[in-house]
Amino acid sequence: MSMMAVDYDGLIPNNVGLGQDVRVKRALEKWHPGYIGWWMDMGPEGFQNALVYLRTAIGVDPKGWAKFDYVRMPEYRWGILLAPPREERKIPFGTHKGEAAWQEVPGEYRAMLRRLVVIQGDTEPASVEQQRHLGKTAPSLYDMRNLFQVNVEEGRHLWAMVYLLQKYFGADGRDEAEALLERRSGDPDTPRMLGAFNEKTPDWLSFFMFTYFTDRDGKMQLEALAQSGFDPLSRTCRFMLTEEAHHMFVGETGVTRVVQRTCEAMKEAGITDPYEIDKIRKLGVIDLPTIQKKANLHFSLTLDLFGNEISTNAANAFHAGLKGRYREDRLKDDHQLESGSYPVLRFMDGVIKNDDAPALSALNMRLRDDYVADCQVGVDRWNKVIAEFGIPFEIKLPHVAFHRHIGEFSRTNADVNGKILAPAEWTHKRTDFLPSEADKDYIESLMKPQMEKGKFASWIAPPKVGIDNKSGDFEYVKIHDA
Ligand SMILES: [Fe+2]
Ligand SMILES: [Fe+2]
Repeated sequence: MSMMAVDYDGLIPNNVGLGQDVRVKRALEKWHPGYIGWWMDMGPEGFQNALVYLRTAIGVDPKGWAKFDYVRMPEYRWGILLAPPREERKIPFGTHKGEAAWQEVPGEYRAMLRRLVVIQGDTEPASVEQQRHLGKTAPSLYDMRNLFQVNVEEGRHLWAMVYLLQKYFGADGRDEAEALLERRSGDPDTPRMLGAFNEKTPDWLSFFMFTYFTDRDGKMQLEALAQSGFDPLSRTCRFMLTEEAHHMFVGETGVTRVVQRTCEAMKEAGITDPYEIDKIRKLGVIDLPTIQKKANLHFSLTLDLFGNEISTNAANAFHAGLKGRYREDRLKDDHQLESGSYPVLRFMDGVIKNDDAPALSALNMRLRDDYVADCQVGVDRWNKVIAEFGIPFEIKLPHVAFHRHIGEFSRTNADVNGKILAPAEWTHKRTDFLPSEADKDYIESLMKPQMEKGKFASWIAPPKVGIDNKSGDFEYVKIHDA
């Protein structure tokens, strides 16, 4: 068996030679029942017996790594899959740049590396917990299947991080692996580690915004970790990125379909003013200004995940060669950043302005800038749909200072254009920018399940193409055959 062939015979499918690694195999088998217990408690509520048309990774080569079939989610084959090794890979950045990539944890960086793995690992089960109620209000079987696909893959990403902990971090790693199953999204006593992963995902528009904006943060973090000089982490993240792409696809096309349905309904009803909200809501669709508010909320919560603009932790992780920049390998500079600067947007003397900071300290800011640019691409596609209907409305990413809880702007109240508001003014205008209780109630009123094959809820258009090229009336989830 070649190193990259996937072993499907054991309890845990893998391409890491688990069969020959008795210590790690036992540790993972010991962890497995706890994981299944967590999945049954915190995974998709009400559908654990349904047959879901899911893709499972059966190989890691670029072509055909996914196999589609009906699976009950608790029986999904969560595997440990690393992208193929790159021959003679070198550490691509930091003070060890040019040395052979590490195949074992470098002792001096052990704690820092473990922390990076744990933080990434903690986000994976968190989103499953946040989304566990959504199956019950799915707008179609197609969407329900996509939700569950995202959920099982986040479960696999947890496995990926737990493998690294069990294999490379000894007793500490085992403790961290247990703790990943114990924290709970939104729990006041044992919350998940990062803010956005403790928020609620109360409805399907939130789910699409989350997969568009927050899974994209996941992409940026994975891209940065895929550059790591610690080769097992790099290879793990490279393979996770192939799955992550689908999550963002679900978000981008989900919002596109909501926007499209709204525009269609407005056109049929002869409404051209996107702010005739009451009339538009009578059509059973979500008005564009409310979609904008949801985007404002999820974008701003996600920006907080990038941490402080100026960060010693980020500088240390880069210097050590553990976490790089977005697509480090495509950047043209010395990859060490001991000199040089980067413009950081700051709140100084009551105004928002750029201030040059040492490039090494500004890595979070830089990754966030790359993220914002990446976000804009899908937003442009949403706007293209609106423009095709001739409706005078454009969805905009809010200013990065808007509604922040971490970093430079957490001390201010900026509006979506970056204008600083007095506290009273912010309170007064808050629901101009963020969903109000009435907006939330309206969206909730639309969340009626549509579980007939080929049918879609009133507020969302069907997709252009089916998953795995299936036809429009394909039964993506067999709920009752179970
Ligand atoms: Fe993930
Ligand atoms: Fe994801």
